[in-house]
Amino acid sequence: MKKYLLLLLLAGHQAAAQTPAPLTAHLDKVKLTFALSADGRPTYAVTYGTKPVVNTSRLGLVFQDKQGFDGPLTLTGSEVKDVDETWQPVLGEVKTIRNHYQQLTVHLRQPAAPGRRVDVVFRVFADGVGFRYELPRQLALGNCVVTDELTEFALPADHQAFWLPADYDTNEYLYTKSRLSAVDNSAQVKNSTEIAVRVAPDAQGVATPLMLKADNGLYVNIHEAAQVDYPAMQLHVDRASHRLTARLVPDAVGSKAFWHAPASTPWRTIIVSDKATDILASKLILNLNEPSKIVDTGWIKPMKFVGVWWEMQVGRSDWKYAESLDTLDARGRLLPTGRHGANTQNVKRYIDFAAQHGLGGVLVEGWNVGWEDWFGNWKERVFDFVTPYPDFDVAGLSAYAKSKNVSLIMHHETSGAATNYEQHLDTAYAFMNHYGYSSVKTGYVGRIIPRGEHHDGQWMSNHYVRVAEMAAKHHVTVDMHEAVRPTGLSRTYPNWLASEAGRGNEYNAFSTGSPPAHETILPFTRLMGGPMDYTPGIFRLQGYSASDPKRQVHTTLAKQLALYVTLYSPLQMAADLPENYEAHLDAFQFIKDVPTDWDDTHILAAEPGDYLTTVRQAKGRDEWYLGSITNESARQQPVKLDFLTPGRRYEAIIYADGPDADWQRNPASYQITRQVVTNKSKLTLRLAPGGGAAVSFKPVAAKQ
Ligand code: NOJ
Ligand code: CA
Repeated sequence: MKKYLLLLLLAGHQAAAQTPAPLTAHLDKVKLTFALSADGRPTYAVTYGTKPVVNTSRLGLVFQDKQGFDGPLTLTGSEVKDVDETWQPVLGEVKTIRNHYQQLTVHLRQPAAPGRRVDVVFRVFADGVGFRYELPRQLALGNCVVTDELTEFALPADHQAFWLPADYDTNEYLYTKSRLSAVDNSAQVKNSTEIAVRVAPDAQGVATPLMLKADNGLYVNIHEAAQVDYPAMQLHVDRASHRLTARLVPDAVGSKAFWHAPASTPWRTIIVSDKATDILASKLILNLNEPSKIVDTGWIKPMKFVGVWWEMQVGRSDWKYAESLDTLDARGRLLPTGRHGANTQNVKRYIDFAAQHGLGGVLVEGWNVGWEDWFGNWKERVFDFVTPYPDFDVAGLSAYAKSKNVSLIMHHETSGAATNYEQHLDTAYAFMNHYGYSSVKTGYVGRIIPRGEHHDGQWMSNHYVRVAEMAAKHHVTVDMHEAVRPTGLSRTYPNWLASEAGRGNEYNAFSTGSPPAHETILPFTRLMGGPMDYTPGIFRLQGYSASDPKRQVHTTLAKQLALYVTLYSPLQMAADLPENYEAHLDAFQFIKDVPTDWDDTHILAAEPGDYLTTVRQAKGRDEWYLGSITNESARQQPVKLDFLTPGRRYEAIIYADGPDADWQRNPASYQITRQVVTNKSKLTLRLAPGGGAAVSFKPVAAKQ
């Protein structure tokens, strides 16, 4: 017995001697610990002050050749460095961004042949941690196929989560707020109205960004940064232990990523604070992205635009020209239905409206041949992106728009056929250059071609980057619909102005809509990775649908105005029809005034699922714009105006819910008041159920 005890003690001693001491990095309250477990597997943990954020969690990558980094590893070295620098985004929420972190790099090696090496690089910021796997160039590792990633996020408790199902093809779902122990997406996926859903995901799978709230007051956001050449990370929730495990979106053959070293994963991000407002103010994800690859960025402009679009969404006109490919006239030409929205006369109406109100662009969808056959047939060669329908005079309209100082915005719906789009990219963008289009909205509705690939897999992630690069080559800005959710790549490709990649306002047009809480959750989830083309600004909130008279937008009119501030995007649509703005020109003034590019931003009050108040300073001007929104509950929102320049007087124009406003019963009730304020003033904004308020602050001209 004594002999056995001695052996056991000796064995324990030897293991302890071989396991290196944990390594740490920290900044302010955030501390990261890296350690090898007793059996040699890499792990990490994160704390915020005294509170655990992520308990000891596994790291690792699995390769198809079974010689990946899932077994024991030896620590061969480590380095720590401190970085504190600033940079200026081309377009953004603030003028200058501080990038301040402590970096810990750990070098790991397989103890036995082939002795492959991997580094894990951690960056610790004052508001969280980012880390990624880097495969250095090495003889023992060339081509490799990643089949799994073992990264875990072991959460210390059963947090409240704001989650979406982990679908391989779409994020166009409603958020569910539940404890982690209650995550179950099966009903939601089954009942989804989203046309792109292809794969029944893991019932305990959630998408990122995942927003969490702990009972001890911590807010935690898990996502990724710089998703390039790798699939999107989703998370499997272990309901009993609250341990989240990375799940990568597979490709057509079930693999996750085809690589050749050197290569690296995207950064896995954990943003943490005891204030919800700090989560929204975080620049951690942008900081983890590479600086702009575009050197001359002077041509990249933010924009507000209207479009031949909502009228199709609500069923008042159509994208297609003929009923079907087989409805032909006696001469064998497509027979028009008379409902085609993108006809020359109608487009001119939008150009006139944009010119009259100083809005920069007009989006036209359904201008090009292919819409009779656009969706559901999983085919290539539906669109060529350069052939207009007979009633769309591309040359005449381009000249007309130019004469009115308005830009036409191109639309490239690919119907998921990314291969077809890539074959036409160069000619399509040259066509845009020829006709003076400086911006394109792309779309990927339906199943992807190459068949078997997913919207969020490695192949498509690389496709979106190729599109952004091709657009940059042609000095074109891009807005991508149905693309993978963003991960801060707008820093690297500042011409990639926005993406949809979530459930936008359009769901209020063609489905039962999204509840009033939706827009209070989006900034904590979808928008953590970058700007969203949400398409706010609907003024006719009831009775707009051609098919369903009961359909309504789930906000008040004043809340639609506030969204221009609370949902950041350098590209903002005034989504409603010209006639609906003409009926409320006083309220439309806010949309005309509100900028899309900013020098400063303050998140004044926020709680995911409940409310949000944001104020921003216009680029290069001492003008401020505030948006305040609530969920279905009415609220009084106090606002201190201490962000204004001391000693200056400003005229505040307050676009508020009317006293009787209510998103369901009386959404269009609003009132506009003016008052002179200083940085010592306070406002109390009264938000109706499903309501909001928007305020502009402009300096009062000094008296002579
Ligand atoms: C879905 C997009 O989200 C929407 O904005 C667009 O109008 C349609 N696809 C057609 O391309
Ligand atoms: Ca969409």
